[in-house]
Parts: sequence; structure tokens; C-alpha cells
Amino acid sequence: MSKLTAAITAVGAYVPEFVLTNKLLETMVDTNDEWITSRTGIKERRILKDNDKGTSFLAIKAAEDLLKKSGTNPEDIDMVLVATATPDMPVAATAVYVASHIGAVNAFAYDLQAACSSFLYGMSTAAAYVQSGRYKKVLLIGADKMSSIIDYTDRATCIIFGDGAGAVLFEPNEEGLGLQDEVLRSDGIGREFLKIEAGGSLLPPTHETVAAKQHFVHQDGKTVFKYAVSNMADVSEKIMQRNNLQHSDVNFLVAHQANKRIIDATASRMGVDESKVLINIEKYGNTTSATLPLLLHDFEHLFKKGDNLVFASFGGGFTWGSIYLKWAYDTK
Ligand code: UT7
Repeated sequence: MSKLTAAITAVGAYVPEFVLTNKLLETMVDTNDEWITSRTGIKERRILKDNDKGTSFLAIKAAEDLLKKSGTNPEDIDMVLVATATPDMPVAATAVYVASHIGAVNAFAYDLQAACSSFLYGMSTAAAYVQSGRYKKVLLIGADKMSSIIDYTDRATCIIFGDGAGAVLFEPNEEGLGLQDEVLRSDGIGREFLKIEAGGSLLPPTHETVAAKQHFVHQDGKTVFKYAVSNMADVSEKIMQRNNLQHSDVNFLVAHQANKRIIDATASRMGVDESKVLINIEKYGNTTSATLPLLLHDFEHLFKKGDNLVFASFGGGFTWGSIYLKWAYDTK
């Protein structure tokens, strides 16, 4: 019997309507379009304006898009994973609410948090459940309402992040397609450089923590940039070497959209041509857990069955990694 692999068989996505442009940001903080574009590659991002809607709203929309496109019956889904750094609430898990809302009544569900690597780690988790033969349909959603944790008076962070969601379905494959290999890493040294200090068990929220803006994201951008460039390139190079992939064998680089300069550095180390590097950072900014599935959604029309995709991410924690996946279908 051939070895069971776990393949992505469907993709869905959702971004909110409101567009926050660089021009609009110029009216909010001391910044300008030229600085943002040249330093990050970002032109605009989407923001979920409704105060009564959380990350689950984005996740549900992305999941519903996937279900509709693929004709999947939600009752057949075994498991729903929501990768997110911005759950609806600290307790209970956002994934449970999402699963019930989309009609995945036979599934169990939970959240997975590893900052910007949440979705990449989630791919590993989802694939492992499928490869083991324990579950047949695992829905993995990457969703973040980053605008809920951003200080829109802090130009160091507010220009970077946006809201969005993407979803993929993992199913068993007997042709050897799907997830082939992974290199996943983490290092707690990173916690100091990219964090929300208050609101957790270490520093529960108080009037003082709110006044000190400790419930917002703080980032030492320069330090994170340095670690991101070397680590994302290291793991991507390693996964190519380990699987005997030449640069010409790689059809697409699917990299976390945090900064175009980080993506370019990774592609350069891999020797992968610019035409194979998927980029949509200009439209959405950094949507944290949603960047990778949003790329799959936007560029799905280019993928052919058997294509070699190399995924890469780097995020808070620090957390980072690379996954080698063979695409399993031609777009209908
Ligand atoms: O997704 C999770 C992982 N996160 C990342 O991978 C993000 C990694 N970091 C970055 O992408 C970059 O560090 C940033 C985009 C956040 C910042 O770019 P940078 O080239 O590292 O800029 P910088 O922080 O070193 O700042 C350079 C200058 C400073 O001015 P001085 O000190 O040289 O006079 C800043 O005050 O640019 C200034 N600056 C800005 N100017 C206009 C910082 N933010 C802005 C801004 N607009 N928004």
C-alpha cells in the first residue's frame, strides 16, 4: 500500500472591505507613502471596521468561501483548526465557535497560536492528523483581526498590519502529493522583541496597563528584521538541500508577507527567480496568520498538479520554519 500523504484540496479566503491606504495613514501618523513602500512593499491593507465583529467573523467568511467553492459538506469535516494571534476572546477557543457556525457539527476544534508562524505550524499539525489516518478532512483557517491590537498612533507598527483570513482543507492523498517535508524552529529569545506585554497571566490587564498602552503590539523592528532575514533563508535553504531541490525545481515560494525585503532576501538565498515569488503584501500588509492562505487564494489559478511549493515564515516568539508541499490539483 502506498504511503498516505496529506494534500491541500481546497482554498478559500476573505478580506474586509475597508481599505487603509498609505495616503490615509499619512493623515494619522508622521509617515509617508514613499517610506512605507520602499521599506516594506506595502501600499494598503484591509481593516474590519465593525467593533462588534472579531476574528471569528473573518474565519467564518473564509471557511464559507472554501465550502462553497469546493462543494464540501461541513458535516463531513472532522476537525477545525484556527491559527490566530487575535482570538475573539482569551477563553473560549475561536475555532469552536467557527466550527459550529459553519455547520461542522461532527468536528472537534481548537486554536493554534505561534504569532506569524501560526498557519505554517498549523499546516504541520493538520497534515500530521491526516497522514496518521485518524482524520480525513481537516479544515485549517488562518485569521487575524490585527487592527484590534494595533496602536494607530504608533507609526512603527500601524503601517504594517492588516486584517484578513484564509482557509485550506487537508485530505489524504495516495499519489504522494501534499506535504513532503518540514523544518520548524523556535527560540524564546524573541519574546522581548515582538510582544503584547499585558493582558495575559504574567501581567493581567489593569487601568495602568491600558494607560501605558501595554495591550498593543510592540515591535523592535530592526532586531526582528535581522533575525527574520537570516532564519527564514536558513530553513528554506535547508529544506531544498534535504529534498534535493534545485532552484529550477521550485515552482513557487509562498513566504510570510511581513516585509518585501525579507522575502527578497529569502528568494535570493534559495536562488529562486523573482517570477516564482508570490507577493500580495502591497494589497494586504502583514495579516499575521492569514498571509500564507491569502497567497494560495490569490495565486491558486497559477498552480498545477505536482508543482513544488516552498512555504516559509518568521514571527514573534521567535517562531519560524519552512514546508515543502506538492500541489495536488489543477485549478478548475
Ligand atoms: O511578521 C512578524 C515579523 N515581523 C517582521 O518581520 C518585521 C521586521 N521588521 C521590519 O519589517 C522593519 O524593521 C520595519 C518595516 C518595521 C522598519 O523598517 P526599518 O528599515 O528597520 O526602519 P527603522 O525602524 O530602522 O527606522 C528607520 C528610520 C528611523 O528614523 P531615524 O532614527 O533613522 O531618524 C525611524 O524613526 O525610519 C523612521 N521610521 C519611520 N519613518 C516614516 C520608523 N517608522 C516610520 C514610518 N514612517 N512609519
